[in-house]
Amino acid sequence: MNYRHGYHAGNFADVLKHVALVELLRLLTAKDKKLFVLDTHAGAGGYDLGGDLARRTGEADTGVLQLAMAAQGDMPAAVARYLAAVGAYDRKFGPPGPTLRHYPGSPRLIRAGLRAADRFVACELHGQEALALKREFAGDRAVEVRQVDGYQALKALLPPPERRGLVLIDPPFEAADEFERLLRAVQQGLRRFATGCYAIWYPLKDAAAAARFVDALSQMRLLVVELHLGERAGADKLAACGLAVINPPWMFEEAMREALPWVARQLGSGVSATVRAAPASVPARARGA
Ligand SMILES: C[S@@+](CC[C@H](N)C(=O)[O-])C[C@H]1O[C@@H](n2cnc3c(N)ncnc32)[C@H](O)[C@@H]1O
Repeated sequence: MNYRHGYHAGNFADVLKHVALVELLRLLTAKDKKLFVLDTHAGAGGYDLGGDLARRTGEADTGVLQLAMAAQGDMPAAVARYLAAVGAYDRKFGPPGPTLRHYPGSPRLIRAGLRAADRFVACELHGQEALALKREFAGDRAVEVRQVDGYQALKALLPPPERRGLVLIDPPFEAADEFERLLRAVQQGLRRFATGCYAIWYPLKDAAAAARFVDALSQMRLLVVELHLGERAGADKLAACGLAVINPPWMFEEAMREALPWVARQLGSGVSATVRAAPASVPARARGA
């Protein structure tokens, strides 16, 4: 495997995924009931935006760093909460500098949103990243790090005894058949735990494959959010990506409709966001039935 998330940390794809993740956690922890969170492809946990990997691509410059510079008092609440979570992680390393230096990966954002009774398992298959993740959470009993295949973990850990859960699935898409593998894993997860909330990231490189994937989920209660860079994307770089959220919590769609167009505007002219519910998600009454 060649994928190292350190090259991409804080880029536009992380911004989309992590704005949504912070909001999902907030809404799912609003109820006074325990939550189980599974991060199937967790990565290293935290990233140094001034480090070698991040500087080689500079992807955060046109992602979280651009957004942080555009931050203003009247920005959407979900964006403000995301940037607050990012800033809080950066401050763990010392007083903030002129620009953000340390960026939280999904496990760090999840950890920050957990309550004492919630449970969190973070899976990372690959040695170097798993080691970094274990170091990131050394001594933190609220986080269980497992060096296992995240797709296998879906089988092993679902349904959770808590009966309420958030599953983040964020594969690297290095394998040609990743969409097929992902779909099989999601369907298997849903058979075990139909009421869980699943947030699934996907690239929009092969638009037909992505559309087939989303279509296959459209019988679920589904919200799909996407961010398209348009002209701003480099020729050989990822130009668009999405997050499919199965069983989104109440008010999540509204939060994304408010946040993502604002995010797109800050990321550059021609950048656009879409938020759409799958047809099967629209209540029968709204469809005129
Ligand atoms: C896109 S990155 C994860 C980023 C992270 N979710 C975040 O938002 O900060 C994907 C990670 O999955 C890991 N990985 C690849 N195949 C895996 C598998 N089958 N099970 C678990 N982890 C895997 C890669 O090593 C990589 O660190």
